Amino acid sequence: MSKVLTVYFSAGGRTAALAEKISAKAGGELFEVKPEVPYTEADINWKNPISRCNKEKIGKKDIPTVGKPETFESCDTVLVGFPIWYYGAPNIIQSFMKQFDWTGKRIALFATSGGSDIGKTVGKLRPFISGDYRLIAAKVFKDPEDEAAADEYLAGIIK
Ligand SMILES: Cc1cc2nc3c(=O)[nH]c(=O)nc-3n(C[C@H](O)[C@H](O)[C@H](O)COP(=O)(O)O)c2cc1C
Repeated sequence: MSKVLTVYFSAGGRTAALAEKISAKAGGELFEVKPEVPYTEADINWKNPISRCNKEKIGKKDIPTVGKPETFESCDTVLVGFPIWYYGAPNIIQSFMKQFDWTGKRIALFATSGGSDIGKTVGKLRPFISGDYRLIAAKVFKDPEDEAAADEYLAGIIK
């Protein structure tokens, strides 16, 4: 049986709802990746050229995060969830991935979006993941409440 850890970042709650559903089905620890400085609604207004999210994106900023999952060392499979930001994973996910050696882990990504598919998300995230890991899945969920889609995603992951 896989030993699973689910980690996620969510600014507006959609990815959080999906992560809770996925983690309840997969078992194991559920860990929220939180920024040291929480995002306000104004911070994530990408329509404002000088909002925090745009500054972080343009400045390729590292985002300090709070705490670490308790079961990172002992798990073999890590499910990593996030909203698609600018056709990829948010900077905070890059910052989170950079903190660990992923040797021996199976990594599966899941995301919500406003319509974008997974696109080049995997390739853009790889430079931030070190070690001898296997990236086994990456899926954007159109509807975070879709039970069948969550089951189908996990069927290919949990052994
Ligand atoms: C800064 C920012 C950038 C975004 N970029 C994209 C994008 O490139 N493509 C897309 O389909 N949706 C984009 N979105 C929409 C989010 O991916 C979508 O609303 C997501 O479900 C939000 O998840 P959350 O509620 O967990 O934060 C963006 C949202 C924000 C705040």
